[in-house]
Formats: sequence, structure tokens, C-alpha cells
Amino acid sequence: MKLLVKLGGTLLESTKTRGALATQICRLRDDGHQVVVVHGGGKRLSRYLAGLDHKSEFRNGLRVTPPEIMDAVLRILAGSVNRQLVAEFQDAGAKAVGLTGIDSGTVKATQMSPDLGLVGSVEDVDPALLELLAERGYLPVVACVAGGEGSAIFNVNADQMASACAGGLGVDLLLFLTDVGGVLDSRGGLIPRINATQANRLIEDGVAKGGMEAKLRASTGALRSGVQRVVIADGRADAIVGRLVAGEPTGTELVPT
Ligand SMILES: Nc1ncnc2c1ncn2[C@@H]1O[C@H](COP(=O)(O)OP(=O)(O)OP(=O)(O)O)[C@@H](O)[C@H]1O
Ligand SMILES: [Mg+2]
Repeated sequence: MKLLVKLGGTLLESTKTRGALATQICRLRDDGHQVVVVHGGGKRLSRYLAGLDHKSEFRNGLRVTPPEIMDAVLRILAGSVNRQLVAEFQDAGAKAVGLTGIDSGTVKATQMSPDLGLVGSVEDVDPALLELLAERGYLPVVACVAGGEGSAIFNVNADQMASACAGGLGVDLLLFLTDVGGVLDSRGGLIPRINATQANRLIEDGVAKGGMEAKLRASTGALRSGVQRVVIADGRADAIVGRLVAGEPTGTELVPT
């Protein structure tokens, strides 16, 4: 099976959770699956920016990215968070390779909207490098930064990055592992299955907001681009990766309308 695992949220804040996920993902690779990892790191980036007296601002779950914070975006997402994950995957036994969408022109973006600054909207994915690595048994670990026209660099929401790469790779399964059990309804109950119409309704009603709004939009986009199965689940849950790959219904599964 070809799969893409997106790691985000406070999962990336806990050494124990990162270690457990690295072990689970390595096991998949040992079982012959081809795996690509895409990660976020928004919480760590917000903390770093706060230390520089920059207050993080979000619109529809997307981080407003003025050019002067791009250096911090690269330092944290493509730097610390990416390198730390690579070291942990390495320790768990994978031949992990850290990269960004800029490398080998893998992900190209354009400016989404002037009021979001350097937030990129993915225009094109060239999966060749990721395929080459995954086929040869390496584990690509991709930070959510993309290239663009000329030598432009964009900050891409990690869920959009994951969805675009999953579509470009034509994966069988896209897993969004985050720090909640899945998509929650207005009473806090877990929604086991959701289609694009229902997802849009949750966003309109303000029930799915912030990071979950971005994730739902990215998830429905992935289904449209031909990804077979998309699930949003809690990365802290026991043996979650293997259970999802085995088809166990856990978290929230996106289903066609
Ligand atoms: N209806 C909802 N159901 C579940 N979570 C929701 C909902 N609405 C908002 N959220 C928030 O969305 C968050 C998940 O998105 P968030 O962007 O924080 O994590 P992530 O995408 O996994 O991490 P990163 O952005 O670093 O890649 C949850 O922690 C929760 O606070
Ligand atoms: Mg997010």
C-alpha cells in the first residue's frame, strides 16, 4: 500500500508520542508499504514567534505570513521540527530523509491572497523524488514549505501540503494524525464518517474552525484528487497507524458525497 501520514498539532510536542509514531511508521515500511510523511509544527512556530514579539494571526486556520517571518518559518518547520523528526525516525530504524517542497521542485505554489502574505496555494506537485525515495526504501519526511515562480518560497498549510502530495503520489490512504479524536460535532461527539457537504456545513456553522477547518478543506480536496481513503484520527491513540492501515474504523473517515 502507498500511504501518506501527516503529523501535526501537539503530537509534535511530545517526545514520547513522536517516538511511538516513528516506531509505528517504521513498522509499516518494514511490512513493505511505501510511506511518505508530511509534518506541520504550528504550535512550535507560534512559540518561537512569540519569543520574537510577533503575535501569530490566523485566517480560516491559515497563518498570516508576512515576509519578515519567513526566516522563522524556515528555521522552525524546515529546520528544528524536520531535523528532530528525521533523527527520531532514524533512531526507530528508518532511512529517513528530511526535505521540503522546494527540493527538486516537488511542490510549487503561488501566493494565495495578498492579505495572507507568503501563504502558498499549491499549484503543482512533481512526485518523482518522493517516489524514488519511497521505492528505494527511504522514508521522505517533508516540511510544509513550497517553492514557486523564480526563487519564491511559500509557507503552505501542512494539511494542504499533505493533501497535494497525496494526490500527486496517488496514495491509497491519507492519514491526518492530530491531537483530537477526529472531527467533533457541536456537542463534542466524534463524527465517524463525513462527506464534503457535511464538512462545509460544519465549517459554516462554526463547529469546525481553525486548524480543523483547514484540515477538512484539505481532506475533501484529497478525495477529489483521487486519494482512495482519507482519515483524521488521534495520533496519540495506541497502535493507531497499524489499526488504520488494517482498515479499522477509527477517528473520522471522509467519504464521497
Ligand atoms: N469541530 C472540531 N473538531 C475537532 N477539532 C477541532 C474542531 N474545531 C476546531 N478544532 C481544533 O482543531 C485542532 C487541530 O488542528 P491544528 O491545526 O491545531 O492541528 P494540526 O493540523 O494537527 O497541526 P499543525 O497545524 O501543526 O500541522 C484541534 O486541536 C482543535 O482544537
Ligand atoms: Mg493545522
